[in-house]
Amino acid sequence: MRRTVIAGNWKMNMTPAQTKAFIAELAPMVAGMDKCDIVLCVPYVDIATAVEAAKGTNIKIGAENVHFAESGAYTGEISAKMLCEIGTEYVVIGHSERRQYFGETDATVNLRTKAALAAGLKVILCLGEVKDERLNGITDEVVAMQTKLDLLGVSAEEMKNVIIAYEPVWAIGTGLTATPDQADETCGVIRRTLAELYGIELAESTTIQYGGSMNDGNAAELLAKVNVDGGLIGGASLKTDKFTAIIKAANS
Ligand code: 13P
Repeated sequence: MRRTVIAGNWKMNMTPAQTKAFIAELAPMVAGMDKCDIVLCVPYVDIATAVEAAKGTNIKIGAENVHFAESGAYTGEISAKMLCEIGTEYVVIGHSERRQYFGETDATVNLRTKAALAAGLKVILCLGEVKDERLNGITDEVVAMQTKLDLLGVSAEEMKNVIIAYEPVWAIGTGLTATPDQADETCGVIRRTLAELYGIELAESTTIQYGGSMNDGNAAELLAKVNVDGGLIGGASLKTDKFTAIIKAANS
């Protein structure tokens, strides 16, 4: 009923030349693996090259952020219209690294999400608790609140283009992974929050990914969970063999 989506988030890695070579290598490895959608979210300067290299393959291309204004005096920022014009289909919004290092808040995440959806982009909305919040037993409240704030004013119709990525911050790039049960439970909390906001049917049809040190060794177990509908993958998306193994796990 809901689509499994395996997405790579390259973060600040790969040049255009490396992007071209990577996709040329990956495409034949994942050809025909159509039980999940395959997305690569790449640095802005790599997008045009990635879109060209992915033409005719089952790989879709996304950005890693987008600004909320249509245009204007925002030095260094990129608008949704600019992304669309070069063939970008997806955009990651609210990644914890943006929140942690670049002052992103639920309010700006919400603005970016609405701007991206209005332009026709598919949004991968990231949220998740930090270590202290999990240790203090308030994970459920934190992710429910983020879900509500980040989606303020997003319509049920627009939600068809929203994927949620549950990324516990303590698991990102640390080699620590949420256990499959923890991932399932917290994705379940997000799904129940969506049901509160939009009704059960929409909640059941929304893709909720897990992200945080997902790799070729743990993907199958995580993806087997009922509330985990895919993965947002950092480090392991930079190696074609590891990324392919995760996609394979989603196709078995
Ligand atoms: P890692 O897979 O490197 O832990 O990164 C996860 C992530 O932040 C994906 O957005």
